Amino acid sequence: MRVTFRTIEWTGDALLLLDQRILPGRETVRRYATARGVADAIRTMVVRGAPAIGVAAAFGLVLAVRSAVRGGRPWREAFRTAAEMLGATRPTAVNLFWAIERMRRGASMLSDDPRESLRALEREAVAVYEEDLAANRAMGAHGAKLLPRSGSVLTHCNAGALATAGYGTALGVIRAAVAAGKRIHVYVDETRPFLQGARLTAWELSKDKIPCTLITDNMAAKLFGDGKIHAAIVGADRIARNGDVANKIGTYGVAVLCRVHKVPFYVAAPRSTIDLGVRSVKEIPIEERNGREVTHFMGRRVAPDGIRVYNPAFDVTPARYVSAIVTEKGVLFPPFSRDIRALFR
Ligand code: MRU
Repeated sequence: MRVTFRTIEWTGDALLLLDQRILPGRETVRRYATARGVADAIRTMVVRGAPAIGVAAAFGLVLAVRSAVRGGRPWREAFRTAAEMLGATRPTAVNLFWAIERMRRGASMLSDDPRESLRALEREAVAVYEEDLAANRAMGAHGAKLLPRSGSVLTHCNAGALATAGYGTALGVIRAAVAAGKRIHVYVDETRPFLQGARLTAWELSKDKIPCTLITDNMAAKLFGDGKIHAAIVGADRIARNGDVANKIGTYGVAVLCRVHKVPFYVAAPRSTIDLGVRSVKEIPIEERNGREVTHFMGRRVAPDGIRVYNPAFDVTPARYVSAIVTEKGVLFPPFSRDIRALFR
């Protein structure tokens, strides 16, 4: 199944990003020619989703080195400054740090020849992009088997082509299942407060003509109670080495509903989302975002002025609620620790 839009595109001298803040109303592609611009795009959610921000950061580093090389400045220093700036944009998705680290490792092996180094770093960033695309396709092939031949699948947030180099993780699995002839209907959680479900997932699935129904997050329990959900599948921002999963706020609630109603809860994520340095849930840093996202709806105030707000962008689902983790190398089943270790051998 072909995806009909591009989230991220590298032109050779700039990064093009589909502005996800204004979807579905407007399809606007913005051009970024500096690392600072890319960092702002990540911070302000022009580009979002764990793998996508990793890919964007890799190209941001190329842009920093490119501008240093053109200006006759030391490229290694420019790389270091940009890596720090890009790494400070969002704290939870580990793919961002994974991509920066991969580029840093690449950079440390390069000669001091500026032009040759720039070309090598560009090749590395393109590889990060292409490998993510391939990983998503592979996850689709592995994960499609888990979904019912016919039935309804719930997803939360957006783990689609918009959140990755293309095709998607959780939505990639759904795309592959549909392409294989399964009759899947998708219930899309709206995903308050940023509305990634309503604005992005509903848009993506509709564009691909995959049957879907939008619900607000608080309607999911009723659907489970009515026996209308046969599986749930989400993406991840960081997976600890024991299988605990950080993902968009509200994911934990979906996992608990799955457990109570004996419905499988699947997570689809590439290896770049697994953080072996994190032992469990407690060590995953959770981004807290501006309270305005909660007090306002589409730019309009919906809560009293001065109200105190708590706005964590992610929650953590303990591994015991996860039925399987779909990776590009295959499907992992509980207990996850051993399989996760084996994935990196
Ligand atoms: O705040 P966001 O929109 O960047 O959060 C995105 C998610 O939580 C996704 O589910 C996750 O990054 C997986 S994307 C393949």
